Amino acid sequence: MGQKEYLKNQQREVLQNCGLINPENIREYIARDGYQAMGRVLTSCQPQDVIEQIKKSGLRGRGGGGFPTGRKWEYAARAVNEDKYIICNGDEGDPGAFMDRSVMEGDPHAVLEGMVIAGYAIGAHRGYIYVRAEYPVAVERMELAIKQARELGLVGKNIFSSGFDFDIEVRLGAGAFVCGEETAMLNSIAGKRGEPRPRPPFPAVAGLFHKPTVINNVETLANVGRIFLKGPEYFAGIGTEKSKGTKVFALAGKINNTGLIEVPMGVTLRSIIFDIGGGIQKGRKFKAVLIGGPSGGCIPEDHLDAPIDYDSLLKLGAMMGSGGLIVMDESDCMVDIAKFFLEFTQDESCGKCTPCRVGTKRMHEILQRITIGEGKEEDISLLKRLAEDIRKSSLCGLGQTAPNPVLSTLRFFEEEYLAHIRDKHCPAGVCSRLVRFEIIPEKCTACSICARICPVEAISGEPKKPPYFIHQGICIKCGACQAKCPFSAIAKI
Ligand SMILES: Cc1cc2nc3c(=O)[nH]c(=O)nc-3n(C[C@H](O)[C@H](O)[C@H](O)COP(=O)(O)O)c2cc1C
Repeated sequence: MGQKEYLKNQQREVLQNCGLINPENIREYIARDGYQAMGRVLTSCQPQDVIEQIKKSGLRGRGGGGFPTGRKWEYAARAVNEDKYIICNGDEGDPGAFMDRSVMEGDPHAVLEGMVIAGYAIGAHRGYIYVRAEYPVAVERMELAIKQARELGLVGKNIFSSGFDFDIEVRLGAGAFVCGEETAMLNSIAGKRGEPRPRPPFPAVAGLFHKPTVINNVETLANVGRIFLKGPEYFAGIGTEKSKGTKVFALAGKINNTGLIEVPMGVTLRSIIFDIGGGIQKGRKFKAVLIGGPSGGCIPEDHLDAPIDYDSLLKLGAMMGSGGLIVMDESDCMVDIAKFFLEFTQDESCGKCTPCRVGTKRMHEILQRITIGEGKEEDISLLKRLAEDIRKSSLCGLGQTAPNPVLSTLRFFEEEYLAHIRDKHCPAGVCSRLVRFEIIPEKCTACSICARICPVEAISGEPKKPPYFIHQGICIKCGACQAKCPFSAIAKI
């Protein structure tokens, strides 16, 4: 697929500058109308007007939950305090997600512009960009952008001679998934352990250093300047009734065209996967798409025509999340996928609350035994019960959403769990304890390559006297024989 075809079904608003301008040169951003919206806001709008315009645009947070941005700003604006803060959430810890990183690397000034406008709206004079240290280019570009904006008086004291002061600093995260959660992030920025705390009080009332704070995702903030530049009506004209604007997705997995895409809200998953993504690699069959990362859900073929918006995805047991899309094909085992994500959340659980710390571990243990053929039928109901308890009683979104990949795979692929449990068989041939390698007698030429490559000497036979034989009791299912057989004479069953 050529670039023209790839871009045909996309609408680049947030990504409009990415790849086109030199992000290390502020003048290139300015040449594409950068900082014009901020200038207009600071010199001719009252803070309340700014909030009204954002509300009118219908912008909702792109960090996962989809909370209306205008309402969030309004709560913080109403809080009476001399010190308030804006935090840009650039933690992005989901496996397979790289949207925010790309915006910070490709258009850092759009993020700064959004932060200054947000600061003006709520009456804050300081902002922090929280970026994980594993994103060194993003960190470098954001720091350079702040320096260049400060030199031109676009960040700092008396911006545009409006009397408004706003300065920004970058704060590095150490790469803990939980630190993307807003209250854990507040602790991390304040130099404390990155653990969440109960809400209320919400950060808009008592956030960083207990002061009113707005925390917004990178992509949310990158939309702000454009909303003022093109008008809230323009933004509200894109998308669906309740989900306005565009969304950036990171396409990953078994898809032909991986990479970043931006589409209007409301397009279907089918269109993303097949029209833009170019379908499944190696002509294989589509099986499911995981949307929303470890907090999200797996959506099967039957639901590919669902529009992508916050509410439709929740109905399917998934969520928009920050925009990671991982496509799976027939060679993926859904139990193994659920186990992978549970392993991730269990690993990343901060351990503060018991349901998340212990519950995710127990769920992972159950999935582990199912994938090695030791599962029981009662495990299915046990998984569902545990999932419900963890969802209801965990302290933060990490635990509350951790069971989602398990619940959604149980909802749409329960028969695959049952095949592992009842038949001790992994239909996708992924769970190594549940697969067997066997030599196909008609194809074997007794070339002996398999016997020579086998690391545990599980294959025997006489040269030139086919077929060779695999001793199942010795075989460790590494698949080396199958990979090396020049005659495709070894089958995985
Ligand atoms: C475990 C966990 C990780 C999160 N990671 C991120 C993240 O990397 N980036 C992000 O913007 N929001 C993340 N969130 C959501 C934030 O808590 C918060 O809702 C968001 O930054 C608000 O910004 P928005 O209103 O612009 O979406 C995470 C939430 C949870 C529970």
